[in-house]
Amino acid sequence: MIEKGVEIAPAEGKLGILLVGLGAVSTTFVAGVEAIKRGLAQPVGSLTQMGTIRLGKRTEHRSPKIKDFVPLADLEDIVFGAWDIFKDNAFDAAMNAGVLEKDLLNQVSEQLASLKPMAAVFEQNYVKRLHGENIKTGKNKMELAEQLVADIARFKSENNCDRLVMVWAASTEIFLEESEVHRSIEAFEKGLYDSDPAIAPSMIYAYAAIKARIPFANGAPNLTADIPALTKLAEQNGIPICGKDFKTGQTLMKTIIAPGLKARMLGLDGWYSTNILGNRDGEVLDDPENFKTKEESKLSVLEHILQPESHPELYGDFSHVVRINYYPPRGDNKEGWDNIDIFGWLGYKMQIKIDFLCRDSILAAPLVLDLALFMDLAHRAKMRGVQEWLSFYFKAPQTAPGLYPEHDIFIQLKKLKNTLRHMRGEDLITHLGLEYYD
Ligand SMILES: NC(=O)c1ccc[n+]([C@@H]2O[C@H](COP(=O)([O-])OP(=O)(O)OC[C@H]3O[C@@H](n4cnc5c(N)ncnc54)[C@H](O)[C@@H]3O)[C@@H](O)[C@H]2O)c1
Repeated sequence: MIEKGVEIAPAEGKLGILLVGLGAVSTTFVAGVEAIKRGLAQPVGSLTQMGTIRLGKRTEHRSPKIKDFVPLADLEDIVFGAWDIFKDNAFDAAMNAGVLEKDLLNQVSEQLASLKPMAAVFEQNYVKRLHGENIKTGKNKMELAEQLVADIARFKSENNCDRLVMVWAASTEIFLEESEVHRSIEAFEKGLYDSDPAIAPSMIYAYAAIKARIPFANGAPNLTADIPALTKLAEQNGIPICGKDFKTGQTLMKTIIAPGLKARMLGLDGWYSTNILGNRDGEVLDDPENFKTKEESKLSVLEHILQPESHPELYGDFSHVVRINYYPPRGDNKEGWDNIDIFGWLGYKMQIKIDFLCRDSILAAPLVLDLALFMDLAHRAKMRGVQEWLSFYFKAPQTAPGLYPEHDIFIQLKKLKNTLRHMRGEDLITHLGLEYYD
């Protein structure tokens, strides 16, 4: 038994990362890890690889790297698997996505070409713009879930993996709200047998992951595992889950700037956000039903950070608009504009303009790595159900029922690091610091 902290099984053997969707984000992630392993690039943007964590008092000067503080899987021990509705291997898919330069892809081409997607669980109705041919068939949704469980078992034995995690990096599905079939495990399983239309493909993957006892993280805004049936099943099976929607680009900026305005008690009249992007994600989001899922996820952020109910005079009446326009020439290189109308002392008005020329998948790839490694850590630490401490990575963090999500990125980071300190039995850091002046 350990004296302090939480017992964590060692990160021995291979970790298989199963990616749902082998598109821009997934291929940028896989190619990046392979390039980093060969010393061709640095893991910029990854907290698990580059981040440090302060321990104890400031006078102790203890700030190890996070990866030296908690036992994380080593990059050398990672193997990749994927499902996609297109048969392209990861090299062809990466070339198609056009995020990374050919030179770099050619240097890791062998590893990428060997990653061939398994047949997907997919239904046109949930992603209207895509037409693929690498799709499973079955007599009902339960049978499709069983096929995924079989894929998982086969992958594990063929690749000699010790542990697995699954990350959803597939297209955003149409907007779904929680309904009766999502409310209990029994109703959900009956719904799988009945092929209930309220059960989207992403839910079938999440169900299969939890059944196969592997952690599941959702990088898209779909409802997916954010329903009582799956959170209960995850708790019952001792499986960590988290989501939703990788926090990159514009929302990342929003959750950096809004806490600053609020900290200084500066008022907000309106925040207008618009984007142009031309990748496949942009094409899928060009459909109004799919965009609605994304819009909901993007809109919730400001309300929770600014707390209009506590500060009606500052935030009681702001207008928040989010648009995404599909514009093919830009490919993955999105441009996000924000116009922020604020007011200060005596109500005097000011404006902030942001023009973020970002690269969507470059921002998302390190998040996939961190989530996979932290979810594997959580599983080895016997953490189960919703992992709210990973809110740092999401636009619409999953929480326990009745809790509002924490969106302020600085609070999210503090929560993440305090969770790691707690795991290792270190003092939590409150930043009080009065003792330095005693
Ligand atoms: N890039 C970012 O910054 C970012 C941020 C937040 C969320 N996301 C989300 O991550 C997801 C992936 O983004 P992307 O840019 O890689 O998109 P993409 O279109 O390049 O890749 C998605 C892949 O998923 C596949 N797919 C769709 N449905 C599937 C299914 N049921 N099973 C298996 N594969 C399926 C598609 O064929 C495609 O290859 C999207 O949902 C996107 O909204 C991305």
